[in-house]
Amino acid sequence: MDETAGRRAYIPRLYGRRQDKPLKPRQARLMQSLLPRLAVPDPSGGPIDPRALFPQAEDVWLEVGFGGGEHLAWQAARNPSVGLIGAEPFVNGVGKLLALVDDDGLDNVRIHFGDARPLIEALPAASLGRIFVLHPDPWPKKRHHKRRMISPWFFAAAARLLRSGGELRVASDIRDYVRWTLMHAANAPAFEWTARRAADWRERPPDWPRTRYEAKALKEGRDPAYLVFRRR
Ligand SMILES: C[S@@+](CC[C@H](N)C(=O)[O-])C[C@H]1O[C@@H](n2cnc3c(N)ncnc32)[C@H](O)[C@@H]1O
Repeated sequence: MDETAGRRAYIPRLYGRRQDKPLKPRQARLMQSLLPRLAVPDPSGGPIDPRALFPQAEDVWLEVGFGGGEHLAWQAARNPSVGLIGAEPFVNGVGKLLALVDDDGLDNVRIHFGDARPLIEALPAASLGRIFVLHPDPWPKKRHHKRRMISPWFFAAAARLLRSGGELRVASDIRDYVRWTLMHAANAPAFEWTARRAADWRERPPDWPRTRYEAKALKEGRDPAYLVFRRR
């Protein structure tokens, strides 16, 4: 990590493009009208208090890299007493989540449009009940492994953010990334892997909806693993 022009630039960059095709007109409108209302304060401005974002919420959950937002919107709709924070640098994903929030009239969603890492560092210790990282970018080449979201840094950050008994959920359809996640989890004494039998990580739990990326993986013949780690 580095200091540039007074703002922290996170190196390496973990994500690829920030945009593919132009936003649909409705999504572009929502970026102007709805995003400013849902945006989490800029983490470069200092610590962020999740209770100030969701004064009524019983708990706050974070999704890192929500993609098209279908998992986040599903959780928000079924858990109205929970505040959901989503972080995503890909503008088309943010546009899609805004449309879902608008369609479903969700009032328990806040969005960080950008790299999740500065947000993670600005949130206080023991402030979250769950963290989701679903199908993180696999960065398959060895020289790119340093770009993987799951890392010793990430496990340490998740251990700081989650309350005791809180959950870190990671999904991946890439075998090497599953092994990588389990290896880093084994080196993170603050977490225990909750799986007791193969079905616990091979079968999608009922409160874990399918994401767009997961559907694509299944279509291409890759079975996802659903990993749940509990904060001790
Ligand atoms: C393979 S996609 C999976 C998207 C979604 N979770 C799903 O399952 O459909 C990985 C996502 O992580 C996002 N991402 C990559 N680096 C990130 C970072 N540093 N902070 C937040 N999101 C990131 C990407 O923009 C992308 O949307």
